[in-house]
Amino acid sequence: MEHTTTLPLPPTGSAPDDPDRRFWLAATGAAGAVAATATAIPLVSSFAPSERARAMGAAVEVDISDLPPGGMKTVEWRGKPVWILRRTPEMLAALKGHEGQLADPESAKDQQPEAARNATRSLRPEVFVAIGICTHLGCSPTALPAGTANPSVGSDWPGGFFCPCHGSTFDLAGRVFKNKPAPTNLEIPPHAYLADQRLRIGDAS
Ligand code: FES
Repeated sequence: MEHTTTLPLPPTGSAPDDPDRRFWLAATGAAGAVAATATAIPLVSSFAPSERARAMGAAVEVDISDLPPGGMKTVEWRGKPVWILRRTPEMLAALKGHEGQLADPESAKDQQPEAARNATRSLRPEVFVAIGICTHLGCSPTALPAGTANPSVGSDWPGGFFCPCHGSTFDLAGRVFKNKPAPTNLEIPPHAYLADQRLRIGDAS
């Protein structure tokens, strides 16, 4: 079963200490924070598998035919929010030119399947799949389009994701910027295409 939902905006403030509370902050923050930028990056949240299947860590199948260019969908896999962003040609172009500002521009660390160890960190350039949890302490980053007026990023911001907890920033391939608390790029989960517009998250075979 798949349905569209709107989750509440995340609470503000620093990351909570309790791991369970932190998870729910991350899970709700993922959808809520992105919803806050919905005019620039439309959000469709889909929670497809049953509770039992989710608990067992089952792979999740996702129809992405309804995902418009620039749109982002969030699904849940193993209790984590997984983002699926359909990047526009402009977003793909914005992945170039700031490699020198990134901590791991070539994705040398094992934060992605081998098939996604490339310039776009994806199986297909236009479809970006990533776990929406900051690699510092587990908060959920917020999508920040290029040209945003957010004072937390510079005027040359290429678009990407900003973690409000301690200020880590990631580009539109989930690559972390240098000198930020997050030690690694965002994690790319194993995934595969079952059909042209159908993804399976959690199983790359
Ligand atoms: S949790 Fe600390 S920067 Fe994201």
